[in-house]
Amino acid sequence: MRLLAATLIFGLFSASCAPKASSGENSLAQISDAKVLQFAIPGKELYENYCANCHQKDGTGLGKLIPPLRDADYFKADIHRTVWIMKHGKAGEILVNGQVYNQAMPANPNLSPLDLAQITTYLYNSWGMNEGVIDAPLVEQYLRNPPAEN
Ligand code: HEC
Repeated sequence: MRLLAATLIFGLFSASCAPKASSGENSLAQISDAKVLQFAIPGKELYENYCANCHQKDGTGLGKLIPPLRDADYFKADIHRTVWIMKHGKAGEILVNGQVYNQAMPANPNLSPLDLAQITTYLYNSWGMNEGVIDAPLVEQYLRNPPAEN
């Protein structure tokens, strides 16, 4: 029993001492709207679990392999297309901020419309963007038809 308590305390201690996020990650700080925050808080966590391995926590991508989301013309141009890509993945050449990318992104069949709504709201209200809530019914509508330019 004492060992268990020690383990728990150690666990809490080391969790609180985890390395701090690097600059630009705490993009929730720019959000003041309560409804947007309600989506963006779980959205940030989902983003970090499902997307950040590749696109990085701060959204800047990875060299010539993974395109950026932050300050990216392709990303900003079309929310419908982003939702579609998140759900279905993407392959083939694309041009992002003048740079060619051509690696496959895997689909996320297990993410629900609400999950996708939360991630999308988080991303489009970060890094200086201010698109408001993208809710689950809108995501469902986007998923009914492919975007104009895929
Ligand atoms: C395994 C790595 C990987 C993961 C995980 C991943 N992506 Fe991608 N993503 C890519 C790659 C590679 C491309 C470029 C695809 C191409 O070349 O056609 C891409 C393209 C994109 C694009 C279009 C290009 C751009 O810069 O706007 C968006 C939007 C996007 N991803 C969002 C996401 C989101 C949101 C998630 C989490 C749900 C995610 N991705 C998870 C690798 C990944």
